[in-house]
Amino acid sequence: MSLLDQIVPVKDSAMAELAQAGDLGMLDQAKGRYLGPEGRFTALMKQLGTLPKEDRPLAGKAINAAKIEIESALAARRSELELQALIPKEPTDFTLPGRRRFPGRLHPLTQVTHDIVRCFRKLGFAVADGPEIEDEYHCFDALNTPADHPARDSQDTFFLEQRAGGGSLLRTHTSSVQIRVMSSQPPPVRIVVPGRVYRRDNADATHNPTFHQIEGLYVDKAVTVADLKGTVEFVFKELLGDEVKLRFRPHYFSYTEPSFEIDFSSSLTRKMGKEWLEIAGCGMVHPKVFEAVGYDPEQWSGWAFGFGIERVAMIRYGIPDIRLFYENDVRFLRQF
Ligand code: DAH
Repeated sequence: MSLLDQIVPVKDSAMAELAQAGDLGMLDQAKGRYLGPEGRFTALMKQLGTLPKEDRPLAGKAINAAKIEIESALAARRSELELQALIPKEPTDFTLPGRRRFPGRLHPLTQVTHDIVRCFRKLGFAVADGPEIEDEYHCFDALNTPADHPARDSQDTFFLEQRAGGGSLLRTHTSSVQIRVMSSQPPPVRIVVPGRVYRRDNADATHNPTFHQIEGLYVDKAVTVADLKGTVEFVFKELLGDEVKLRFRPHYFSYTEPSFEIDFSSSLTRKMGKEWLEIAGCGMVHPKVFEAVGYDPEQWSGWAFGFGIERVAMIRYGIPDIRLFYENDVRFLRQF
């Protein structure tokens, strides 16, 4: 058979073998069989020199064209196989947690927040959220805090320049979220709301212009103070140990009636030099609040509370100064 007649059959069988190569190793072997030093196609190229001079241009052209075809088929098959090699053989469960472990850990306030939320989840509470830039209606009016109430004093609240449609203050407490949640759903309600709040306090060992609270709200039929006490006691014992004692002192909040402050006592408070530490405000939701959100106070009752997350973290870890939480000094943070 003349050289010219052999080119196309050899090329065709090269193309077929490249196409059949199932992995990169097989592809390299196929390449060797045709284009390697002892390859079949290489042999044809070597024969070119033995042809009579006048036959060489035609045969040379045909060989070059075939070689280009083989090489481009080879490159195409190679990138196909490389791509395939990246796809896992086994089906992959993309919901599995990653294996990488990042250095570092959660901030102590985040850890305490998670722990508190976990306790409430056990009791069937859901987590709710609301905006930090609030309006007077949600932060005060709907909470039965009238315009002349001292809590609305500009000494205490950061007011913002009025923007079209926007809020006008930084929320002073997470209680505003009670209103947002109740206005958007019918009772019953069982929520906790961790979040950041703002007050015009100068920073000292126990105050900071921004800190964190957890709000709780429970609305259902025939809810009583006993439910409130039982719930708060369960959570604090889970959080800070079984020997914890709680004391409910009568107090005043405009959005609850009756209202209480909760004091807390344990070996941890004694370590801080105090028998009792105030830890939360709470009470039975005021009928005026229910009216503001369109709940019938004759049908529904509920309790609410709010406590400071920093306060709990300070007691739990024996931290004497609230400012340590915000300085981001890793020597402090690494201890938790
Ligand atoms: N909002 C109060 C504060 O910031 C805490 C509080 C008291 C929340 C009584 C409540 C409550 O939900 O019922 O000091």
